[in-house]
Amino acid sequence: MKQTLTQKILERHLVSGSCVPGREISIRIDQTLTQDATGTMAYLQFESMDIPRVKTELSVSYIDHNTVQIGYENADDHRYLQSVAEKFGLYFSRPGNGICHQVHLERFGKPGKTLIGSDSHTPTGGALGMIAIGAGGLDVALAMAGEPFYLTCPRVIKINLLGQLQPWVSAKDIILKVLDLFGTKGNVGCVFEYGGPGVDTLTVPERATIANMGAECGVTTSIFPSDERTRRFLKAQHREEDWSELKADLEADYDRIVDIDLSKLTPLTAMPHSPGNVAPIRECEPVAIRQVCLGSCTNSSYKDLATVAKILKGRVTHPDVSFIIAPGSKQVLENLARDGYLADLFASGARLMENACGFCIGNSQSPQSGSASLRTSNRNFFGRSGTRDAQVYLASPESAAAAVITGHLTDPRDLGIPYPEVSLPEEFYVDDRTIIKPKEADSAATVAIYRGPNIGPPPTNELLPDSLDGIVTLKVGDHITTDHIMPAGERMKYRSNIPKYAEYLFEILDSTFFQRAIKIKESGSSNIIVAGSSYGQGSSREHAAICPMYVGVKAILAKSFERIHAANLINFGILPLTFVREEDYDHLAQGDRLLFPDIRNSLLDRDRLQIRNCTQELTMEVAFELSSRQKKILLAGGALHRS
Ligand code: F3S
Repeated sequence: MKQTLTQKILERHLVSGSCVPGREISIRIDQTLTQDATGTMAYLQFESMDIPRVKTELSVSYIDHNTVQIGYENADDHRYLQSVAEKFGLYFSRPGNGICHQVHLERFGKPGKTLIGSDSHTPTGGALGMIAIGAGGLDVALAMAGEPFYLTCPRVIKINLLGQLQPWVSAKDIILKVLDLFGTKGNVGCVFEYGGPGVDTLTVPERATIANMGAECGVTTSIFPSDERTRRFLKAQHREEDWSELKADLEADYDRIVDIDLSKLTPLTAMPHSPGNVAPIRECEPVAIRQVCLGSCTNSSYKDLATVAKILKGRVTHPDVSFIIAPGSKQVLENLARDGYLADLFASGARLMENACGFCIGNSQSPQSGSASLRTSNRNFFGRSGTRDAQVYLASPESAAAAVITGHLTDPRDLGIPYPEVSLPEEFYVDDRTIIKPKEADSAATVAIYRGPNIGPPPTNELLPDSLDGIVTLKVGDHITTDHIMPAGERMKYRSNIPKYAEYLFEILDSTFFQRAIKIKESGSSNIIVAGSSYGQGSSREHAAICPMYVGVKAILAKSFERIHAANLINFGILPLTFVREEDYDHLAQGDRLLFPDIRNSLLDRDRLQIRNCTQELTMEVAFELSSRQKKILLAGGALHRS
C-alpha cells in the first residue's frame, strides 16, 4: 500500500495496535522535551517512578517560560530542573538559551524521529520531518521511563501547496489561511501532512511557523517532508549527518487533500480573541496599534527578525508604538548581531527582551490599557497578554514591521517599498556552551536534587468510587482554554506548588470558584464541571487537570474535549464525559446535584452511563469515549497509580 509520511514514521515506531485511523496505537518515543512551566511537575512524576536514568535516545529540559525572577519561586524551579537533568541524564538548556521549539529545531530535531514534549507547540519539530506531538507532563515522564506513548491513530490530511508566495506574504499567512479553512475545532485526531511543489519554496524556519500553529487547529501534529531544504538547514547548523530524505509515496492514500495556491495568498491577521478569527488585513477596520511584539516560538527565527530589520533599516518606530523583540534563541541573537541586523533593529527603536517566551506567556509586556497589540505569536486568547482589556491581533513579521512604521494595522504591501529578500546563512554561528550535556551515569548517580520551598510533591488521586455524588460547581460555554482554567502569566511561578496554584483555578471566569469547590469537597461531595464544545483547547498545561483534581473535581461533562486536555484529565483520574444528546447541556445549572450510579462497573462493561439530575429531576445519558487502557487508568485514580 502507498503510504503517507506520517504512516511510515508511525509504523516504524509502532509498539501496539495497528495503524488504522481512529484506533488506539502506542509508539516508541525517541526524544522528549519539557519547558519549565510544565517540566517541574513532569520530573517530580518521573522521580516518583524510581528510574535511575532516562531511557529515551535524547531528552532535553528547557527553561524558557518563567524567566522573570520576582521572588524565589522561578529561581528555585530552575535550580531543581538543572539538578534533575544532571541526575537523570538529560540535556539542560539554560535560561537565556532560547525557546524550546526554536532551540530543538536548531540543535536536536532529526528527520524520522518521534518527539513528545510537554508543550502544545511541540509539533514545530514537524518542520524537520519528525512526528512531534504535544502531551501532558505525565506522558512525557512515562516516555522518559521507557513506556510507549498512546494516541489515536490519526487521519492524514494532505495540504497540497501550489505556486509560490508573493512579496510581503509569508509563512504566517499560510498557516492563518489553514486556520481560516479548518477552524480551531473539529480537527482532533488528524495530522496535516504538507506536500506539493510549493513545499520546495519554503525554508525549514518557514515550515516551522506553519507546523507550530497547526496546534491552533487542534490537530495531533503537522509534518513536512525531509528534503534538500532540510539538508541545507541541518548543514548550516553543522549537523548534516543528522539528515535523511523522507517523503510520502507517490499516490499515497490520504483521508482528504486540500490545495492552497500560495501565489493567491494575501497578508492576513487573526483578530481578537481567537487564532481562528482570520481576515485579510486590508478588509479590517482601521485599528490603531499601540504595541508590536516580534518573537515567540512561531516567528522568532533568524529569517523573521532579519526581514523586519531590513524593512526598518533607516526608519523609526511610530511614536505611539512600543516595539518589542524577543529572539527565539541565543543562536538567533548572535547571528543577527554578527550580520548587523541587531544594530538596525536597535536604531529603529526596538526594545530587546530575553531569548524566551516572554510576552507570549503574559508574564511581562502587557499592552497599554484598552489598546490593540499586534503580535507574531500563535495565540490571542482573552486575557493571555496579562490584561483583560487587551485586543491582540496575530500577524506575520512583515505585517508587524508595517505596524511599527505606521502605528496602525497595515497591509505591508501598502508601505510602497521594495520587499527585502533575506536568505538563510550558509552556516550559522553555533555556540552550545549554554546547553549543559548529560553527565555520565556513574557521576550522575551521586548528584543531589535541589528542592527549594516552592517544590512540593505531585498530588495524587484516590481510586474511582463505586458511584459519584456531586455538585455542578461551574457551568461554562464553548472553547474554554487551559488559560481560562489555570491562568498563566505571573501565577505560573506557583506551578510546583499545587495547593497555592489551585487557588487561581478558573479565576478569570469566576473568582469564587476555588472557595466553592473546597467547601463542596470538605462536605464529602464531588465537584463536577459542565462545559460546551472544545473544552481544554489551547495548551498542554497539565495543571489544568492537576489543580482541578486537587480541589476534588471528579468529572467534566462536555459537548467535546480537546485531545491533550482529555488525555491529561484521564492521567489524573478525572472522568471526561460527553453528552449523548448535546441538548442536555441546557438542562444543567450551577449548583445542581448529580448522581452517577455504579460508575466503576459501567466503565468496565459499557460506553454509556445514565446520570440523575436530582435538582431538576431528570435523567440524561453521557458517553465514555475511552479505550480499555484509559478506563483502567481512571479506575485506578490516575496514571501514576498504574505506573
Ligand atoms: Fe513559549 Fe508562547 Fe511558544 S509560551 S513555547 S513562545 S506558545
